[in-house]
Amino acid sequence: MGTLYIDDQPVEFQPGDNVLDAAKRANIEVPYFCYHPALGAVGSCRVCAMETVPSREGEQPRTVMTCTLKAQDGMRFKFAQSDKAPGVSKTMVEFYMTRHPNDCPVCDEGGDCHLQNMTVEVGHAYRRFDGQKKTYPNQLLGPLVWNTANRCITCYRCVRFYQDYALGDDFGAMGSRNNVLFRRIDDGAFDSPFAGNIITVCPTGTFTDKVFRRKYSRTWMLKKSASICAHCSVGCHVEPGARAGTLRRVVPNENSAVNQYFICDRGRYAPHASEAADRPLQVKVGGQPRQEPALAVLRQALAVSDARWGVMGSGREDVVTNLVLQQLAADLNAPFTAFTDPLTEVRTKTAVNLSLSAPSLQDIEASDCILVVGELTEHAPMMELAVRQALKQGKPVLMLHASASVLAGMIRKQRSLQAQTQAPVLWAETLQKLISQLTQEQADGWAALLKNAKAPVLLGVAEVMPTAVIKALAELAAVIGEHSRLGFALPAANSFGAAQVSQAGSSEQLLTSLESGAINALLVVGADPMSGWQGERWSKALAKIQHLVVVDHIHSATVQAATVVVPSAAVSERNGVFINYEGRVQSFAKAYSRETPVLLQEELIGLLSSDARARVQSQLQSMLGSAMPSPGSAGNRIKPATLPIGQVAEAVLGSGTALVLQGWHGEEEVAGFATELASLTPHDSVGIAPAYAKALGLTLDKNSRLTLSVHGKQLTLPVALSAQIAEGCVAVSRRAFAELQARLGDEVKLTAAIRLSEEPAEQPVVAQFTPVRGDHSNGGVRP
Ligand code: SF4
Ligand code: SF4
Ligand code: FES
Repeated sequence: MGTLYIDDQPVEFQPGDNVLDAAKRANIEVPYFCYHPALGAVGSCRVCAMETVPSREGEQPRTVMTCTLKAQDGMRFKFAQSDKAPGVSKTMVEFYMTRHPNDCPVCDEGGDCHLQNMTVEVGHAYRRFDGQKKTYPNQLLGPLVWNTANRCITCYRCVRFYQDYALGDDFGAMGSRNNVLFRRIDDGAFDSPFAGNIITVCPTGTFTDKVFRRKYSRTWMLKKSASICAHCSVGCHVEPGARAGTLRRVVPNENSAVNQYFICDRGRYAPHASEAADRPLQVKVGGQPRQEPALAVLRQALAVSDARWGVMGSGREDVVTNLVLQQLAADLNAPFTAFTDPLTEVRTKTAVNLSLSAPSLQDIEASDCILVVGELTEHAPMMELAVRQALKQGKPVLMLHASASVLAGMIRKQRSLQAQTQAPVLWAETLQKLISQLTQEQADGWAALLKNAKAPVLLGVAEVMPTAVIKALAELAAVIGEHSRLGFALPAANSFGAAQVSQAGSSEQLLTSLESGAINALLVVGADPMSGWQGERWSKALAKIQHLVVVDHIHSATVQAATVVVPSAAVSERNGVFINYEGRVQSFAKAYSRETPVLLQEELIGLLSSDARARVQSQLQSMLGSAMPSPGSAGNRIKPATLPIGQVAEAVLGSGTALVLQGWHGEEEVAGFATELASLTPHDSVGIAPAYAKALGLTLDKNSRLTLSVHGKQLTLPVALSAQIAEGCVAVSRRAFAELQARLGDEVKLTAAIRLSEEPAEQPVVAQFTPVRGDHSNGGVRP
């Protein structure tokens, strides 16, 4: 803390502030372009000028750039009182505007435009330059980001975010002197999972949201709210914007305790699943539309006399909805679960029980040694971006992974030996070795790095970690000491909360009850059991029952099989509470109502008896305590009760080849219905390391196909050779797992199939997936 003076006004500053930060804190409207709090100052735009007030006799006043000047106690500046500084800012803005097209009426940035605000702020009202403006070609950047090159003022914020902050390398500044453009070498979608943030940091309309363009609204006409991203367990703060009952865009909501300034592309674009053409918006019974209110239809459905019910909530539904469903199950004397897969349930609960010291994203950024187990990018993108910040500062990042990983590629590039490719069944052994090395006097390698770190962080991806590995990671954290932090990316936004409400082995119990006929009716809210890890088993079990009531906002496989469909609200259309991977309780607020009314999940409480309602209240109280956070605030963290877990068979080390997951950063149950994002889904392939293929006697090249056989099911896919796939493993997508009805770690038989180049033109395709949802030739769809 200290005090400096601007125009004789005292201005307090925080440690680390520059003079511009201090001025902004005091609401002094200093113009700036190139400065961004997350990206720092480069002093290139020359707009944030102030004049120094000499402190010694004989010293001359100087015009300085406040973004590059560290705030110090007693400093004195003239800003509004200066004769020179405002002129510098105005001249620079006028200079930038000589190139700018002045197309404000048709610019998507209108209403949110920093350039427009600053231009007005410095008083550059009228254009004097009557020369010809330079024009530049726009670049096609795929379905998510739109480029209007002429609007650029060369502040370099975009490239500083993309390259310096997010460590991307497929976008940069091209050209020289006053002919610099910010582009990819070739047209097409960005490689980075965080590319949408160049829209956020660009102070002009050079990069804008292409999905927003689909149905544009002036930004000041949008209905907005403080919401939480529902697409992974990080729980980033977002601000949905809607108009006329439809979602138009999602932007990051600044929050210093969680995501700070940014979100990932999944968080920005997956919510557009709410606008999918096939979204259920009509209550249907037996496929026939019904006009009665949704809750009345649900009451009728639950009252059928021959039904023996089971109830399913989910990790993508909020805390209260899951508690209500649990109590509804108690009223109906029915089994309840919030999980669709027994293996995922066990792994999630094991991880939640051990997440007592989970690091925040800031803890991860500040760590001086991080160990990552699993492919973090696909499961918790912003957690991975936090790891990149530590990597960027040269801090050691160690990684165990089994399939091709963006983060592992970065680690290898910067620090060659610190990402280890290994089959998941071996991870526990590797961690145990580390534990024993740590306990020795002379630890070296990874053990020494972890032992000597002041703030070590251990991160795991619960869904892909065998339970023994989750426990071994916790044991490692304990051996390192209390100063270590251990956290897990969980499978869904509210997995932490869902884990609190399901009994041990609840999903297996529900599934076997269906299979045995003990229950013949199922109410599912916000889950798609037919598309998950046990999809085939659920599909067979559900095909036998007479009553399948599904409440959801996506046209999932389970919705399509339902006897009763009740459309529900997407996250931006409702209030609720999620608990993120840290155990942080965060509430979200409704931004808008749809024109066609949908069931708000909070209305489900209307199905409960008064006793059950009281039980919901008391459980909520004991789970969350009295401090329910307001939307937009970083909520308190809870310490959960130790959860009973149950057991499930996991893959064991064998001599054969194991299936591992090759996911991608845009993948999640709801995200698959967001047309533009889903159009970037990589084509299916089977990843295998060249050396391992050779050891198996398979001669493969990029034109080869492999046939995979698991439990009598076969699938033939093009080969993707990658040294990043673990020996003893082949990596396939979730869709391939579903097609093969396989589980993580299952043993697979491989045979080389016909090579593409040898394939006769009329050869039928051996196996084919349904086309990617919303696939379109809109530029930038990656091969
Ligand atoms: S594109 Fe935007 S962020 Fe990038 S340099 Fe130009 S004005 Fe700055
Ligand atoms: S990291 Fe997760 S919570 Fe954050 S924006 Fe991305 S998907 Fe949403
Ligand atoms: S904001 Fe200070 S020079 Fe650009």
